[in-house]
Amino acid sequence: MKAKLIIPKQVVTVNNNNDVFVNHAVEISNGVITKIEPVQNFVLSEYEVLNYQNYVLIPGFVQTHIHLCQTLFRGFADDLELLDWLQKRIFPFENSHNKNSLRISVQLGINDLLAGGTTTLLDMGTLRHQEVIFEELIYSGMRAFAGNCMIDQNNLFSTFSETTDWNLKASYDWAKSFHNLCSGKIKYGFAPRFVLSCSEKLLKETKEMMKDFPGSVLHTHSSENKNEVETVRDLTGKENVEYFDSIGLLDDHTVLAHCIHLNENEIKSLKNNKVKISHCPSSNLKLGSGVANVPRFIKEGISVSLGADGAPCNNSLSAFTEMRHAGLIQKPIYGPTAMDALTVFRLATMEGAKALHLEKEVGSIEVGKKADFVLLDLDKADQPIQMNEQSIYSSIVYSATKENVKAVFVDGELKVESGKSVIYDEQKLTANGKNQFEELLKRVN
Ligand code: GUN
Ligand code: FE
Repeated sequence: MKAKLIIPKQVVTVNNNNDVFVNHAVEISNGVITKIEPVQNFVLSEYEVLNYQNYVLIPGFVQTHIHLCQTLFRGFADDLELLDWLQKRIFPFENSHNKNSLRISVQLGINDLLAGGTTTLLDMGTLRHQEVIFEELIYSGMRAFAGNCMIDQNNLFSTFSETTDWNLKASYDWAKSFHNLCSGKIKYGFAPRFVLSCSEKLLKETKEMMKDFPGSVLHTHSSENKNEVETVRDLTGKENVEYFDSIGLLDDHTVLAHCIHLNENEIKSLKNNKVKISHCPSSNLKLGSGVANVPRFIKEGISVSLGADGAPCNNSLSAFTEMRHAGLIQKPIYGPTAMDALTVFRLATMEGAKALHLEKEVGSIEVGKKADFVLLDLDKADQPIQMNEQSIYSSIVYSATKENVKAVFVDGELKVESGKSVIYDEQKLTANGKNQFEELLKRVN
């Protein structure tokens, strides 16, 4: 089989120099980038040439906090604060999933993510039927960390819970079945939901269990909402991150979503333990949770990457929406120079890769990395006039949407072409989603 040769208008590498190449082609063999050189260095007849001369090549986005199981509930949990949102809507909905409703929710989520240029994700899973999420991730060919969401106590919605032993055994078994599957493209992310739904035994034994699965991560929510943090304080006598630290949960394989309400000691702890923060600005705005101090985290050298969270608290899953909000949300507080476009773009790509310890594989367009990338049409009347690198980053972070995504590759395989999924029939997805959600609503109690 001939190697592929992608010829774009520009290559936005996100390498250490933030190089942007023009008149360059990218050679792909067996899903890996093998050369990035001036077009004239290649003998075109030796390749399967993919001509994208009007489009800009960027790395696929890496989103580090997603709930695929919630996509079906988009628009049915609006205008509530976190604990009400969970109690009145999300926990009853998730509790009512059967395999069919979960499957379509995951398909809708994957379809939306890929269409918006996300090629790698960290998913929080759900309590039951976790195998469906893995099956759909594998079918789609996305790069993913996922794991069974663990809940062994639930004061908000008591039926959405299983015993501690069930949770531990289920996670262990799923990890054994799925960690490092598909040549390592699928990895396990242990997913205790948050302090309010997890016993200390569950949290500690989960951390212990991870030793059997090198390369896995621990993924949970922390310090998202003031009422949540107060309840954690009442239960544990500690702040959220201090509690995690006290039970040995924090290290460089821990990904904490949100991290809004923190004291100085907690910021120090995140830094010292090299914890990865997944910043979810749209979710934080919509649930009225607050604004994470991302400029401070970056200054401290703490890892920050981006996540859309779930569709019902956003309601988009697009990395473009997250980038725009990640930039804008800080400016009224820290001034307009905070969070420039390139910094934000790096959070959505290379920093996401680093958070998942995939920085040797994805996050930038460099020789030796996986061919996970996106082609954008930025020559549009609603975009900045394309003159230089400034225009590209400005487009990507402040103006572009998933409408500008023309093609998406994972492992050198085409997933979106001419802005359309090559995996799913979107009309069927929508119709199936409607049927399944109607059925699910009948099961909610
Ligand atoms: N905390 C616990 N569960 C959730 C969830 O599903 N979404 C968000 N945003 N926060 C949570
Ligand atoms: Fe979440």
